[in-house]
Amino acid sequence: MHPLDRRGFLGTAAALAAPSAAFADPLPVAPPPREAVVPGIDSLFLTYRRDPTTSVVIQWVGYAGPAPAVRHTDLLGFSWEGVTPTTTRPFGDSPWLVYRAELTGLTPGTEYRFAVDGHPRTFRFRTMPARATDTFTFVSGGDCGVNAHAVANNILAAKQEPYFALIAGDLGYDNGTSARTALAFLKNYSRHMVDLHGRLIPLVTCLGNHEVKGGFGKPRSAATYYFPLFDVLYPETTYTALDFGDYLSLVLLDTGHVSPIAGAQTEWLGGTLADRQDRPHLIVANHVPAYPSYRAPTGTGITGLFGTGDGNRRHWCPLFERYNVDVVLEHHDHTFKRTHPLKDGRPDKNGVLYLGDGSWGMLRPPVSPERRPYLATVGRAYHLSVHRLEGNQRFHVALDESGKVADVTATYGKRPARRG
Ligand SMILES: [Fe+2]
Ligand SMILES: [Fe+2]
Repeated sequence: MHPLDRRGFLGTAAALAAPSAAFADPLPVAPPPREAVVPGIDSLFLTYRRDPTTSVVIQWVGYAGPAPAVRHTDLLGFSWEGVTPTTTRPFGDSPWLVYRAELTGLTPGTEYRFAVDGHPRTFRFRTMPARATDTFTFVSGGDCGVNAHAVANNILAAKQEPYFALIAGDLGYDNGTSARTALAFLKNYSRHMVDLHGRLIPLVTCLGNHEVKGGFGKPRSAATYYFPLFDVLYPETTYTALDFGDYLSLVLLDTGHVSPIAGAQTEWLGGTLADRQDRPHLIVANHVPAYPSYRAPTGTGITGLFGTGDGNRRHWCPLFERYNVDVVLEHHDHTFKRTHPLKDGRPDKNGVLYLGDGSWGMLRPPVSPERRPYLATVGRAYHLSVHRLEGNQRFHVALDESGKVADVTATYGKRPARRG
């Protein structure tokens, strides 16, 4: 990265980490009808079903009761414009329900307020910008849990004023068996993933082993509490693509927890990446890493197969290389890592960058780059990644739990295409 670029970015990051003035709504809006505080509202969070430039999904988990409507307006509105009904559905086998309302037809790059009937609080959020020419930041990570480190990184993440957070598996470690743990994760997220202006930070996720009872190769129903929350993005398959206007696509994969890596998912991935290979920003996220930093990449059995990431490397990495994926976000090993740009497993300046390895709230000692030549750098620190996208440039900054910059790298534009 050019030193001036790096300094400029770090300066901005430091400014964002500084305390800010209290957030206040600039104009008065008539309060919604209120009778009682809505139960479960302390787990309210935002996610997406479709293009985040024009829509958002509001959800919370609470005991059964009336489904209150959601009212919204843009930040300058004097009155509530839209009234959206809420639907409910079971939260797995728990006594609680998932309450859901989707706002659509929103204006890109715009701030909104909303309120839930019966609850006095007014919430704020913003839609994604319409075009890639706007600079924006998002944060990513994985392997959170509900401990103090996870909360510290939530608070640090929110200070970066990201447009959204991408948590790629192992959210609360509910293991498909603990509704309380799944709910505790949401409550932490709801409380702390609010930026310095009071805006909620939408949550995008993909599946990890600790969302699934049994971890790997299980039916969809074994992700007991995951799909009741996130099936807006995964109505049928357990992998998907989320397109932000025409400038960013997130391709979110299932590393064998419900859907096998080979077969239908890989076929889908080839077509999905081919359709998006010219996007300015094409980013893949998956839970189990192709290039692990803690576990062994090769097995020790008779065949020598089935090391961690073996399926990814066989079936997915060639597609990432062929279709110009800009960066792959990996997790599960509970370290910080950055690989060299890799082509066929070897450093290559036109290769694909892999960032990981999931230590938002969980930690293990990484293997050194000397022992794993595909690794460029590793670290043992609770961390999250800040991704700043400017036009066709990407800056990736790893922040440790204290806010210290652990690593900075940049990727520019698209690599030479390798089609055919
Ligand atoms: Fe994990
Ligand atoms: Fe995991």
